[in-house]
Amino acid sequence: MGNNNQIGISSKKAQQLAAKLNELLAAYQVFYMNVRGLHWNINGNNFFELHLKYEELYNNLQLKVDEVAERILTLGAVPLHTFTDYMKISALKEAKGIHNGAEGVTLILESLGKMIVMQREILKLSGDAEDEGTNALMSDYIREQEKMVWMYAAWLKKG
Ligand SMILES: [Fe+2]
Repeated sequence: MGNNNQIGISSKKAQQLAAKLNELLAAYQVFYMNVRGLHWNINGNNFFELHLKYEELYNNLQLKVDEVAERILTLGAVPLHTFTDYMKISALKEAKGIHNGAEGVTLILESLGKMIVMQREILKLSGDAEDEGTNALMSDYIREQEKMVWMYAAWLKKG
């Protein structure tokens, strides 16, 4: 094993990756909670449509929270697990009291854009570390979220 971790990845690179994945995890936790807030606070004649859409999204984000945390463990590091730690490093800010549909969708678009960029950066690191597991996870997220951006942006153009 030498300087490699249990899955044969350079321990140094795995730790660097895990630190970046913890930043991603922190952002996902804030994103998740923000979308929960959107789901609860939505008003107006898009209520039924967006209340449901937001639920679909926060369920999707919740799965990613767990996958990212468990990838960090797989790399041999510890996922952050308190909101105090998340708020120190999250690239996403907390959102509060958004009732308007277009405002909510705009927040989602901005958040997805930041997640995609962060994941592309992680992809560079994981590529360099020959960490195919993290590569695959990031590629899946990027592809899925780029499509989401198209759809949410199309919704915003409505009317
Ligand atoms: Fe609900």
